[in-house]
Amino acid sequence: MLSIAKMRTKLLFGNWKMNSLKAECSAFLAESKNLLALSNSKHIEIGLAPSYLYLDQAIAEGNGITVYAQDVSDEEKGAYTGQVSVSMLLDHSVCGSLVGHSERRAYCNETDFKCNLKIKKLLKAGLGCIYCVGETLAEYDKGFAKDVIKAQIEVGLMNLKGLDLSKLVIAYEPVWSIGTGKNASEEIAQDICSYIRSLVKDMYGEEVASSMRILYGGSVKPENIHSYLKQNDVDGALVGGASLKADSFAKLIENC
Ligand code: PGA
Repeated sequence: MLSIAKMRTKLLFGNWKMNSLKAECSAFLAESKNLLALSNSKHIEIGLAPSYLYLDQAIAEGNGITVYAQDVSDEEKGAYTGQVSVSMLLDHSVCGSLVGHSERRAYCNETDFKCNLKIKKLLKAGLGCIYCVGETLAEYDKGFAKDVIKAQIEVGLMNLKGLDLSKLVIAYEPVWSIGTGKNASEEIAQDICSYIRSLVKDMYGEEVASSMRILYGGSVKPENIHSYLKQNDVDGALVGGASLKADSFAKLIENC
């Protein structure tokens, strides 16, 4: 019989950040049928997180491709200029959201506590969530990577008992590897992803931990994706730059 770990379906998710205008989105989405067929044939799941303005377009033109927002408010509704609520995502058939991406932590003062509120809101609404964690270069150099990750996981994932955690994915993205071309070695990715799984096990038990998908992100390219995905505890990748064009996305799928 297959172990639960072996049954975790690989997930490849594109984070488009503040990139791609309407025409570029359309060019990508015109290939969505092919990308979905390719991913089905490889038994992996794929998804995209475009900017808010293009979520509707991705849903309309994406042939059923999974579409997430890049962030969501922890508030329900009201005087929160510039924010987008979970109900609004539901209203637009968006399937979930990234939470706690390091760029939001760095530029928008996103705290682990805020992330926790957002994760709870998403899971309570039955939406998916990719919770991003990762240390900075200074923290890595000082040997604090695991301490940082521990706090991000313990606070970010606190009090989730009773919620369906099957729609929660964690992405380990060392800040020093994002958009820098300096990807973490596969050994580091495996070591930290397995550490994250052990933290989840301490909080929510063996069954939740062994079925939770944990991704690596940070300068993932078609040339290096396979080295990560063959690691025991790496269940996929969150990809920025290399996910923007359909041909590169197709190569990522092919090399999974
Ligand atoms: P990158 O970004 O692949 O461009 O390094 C990854 C991310 O920020 O999710």
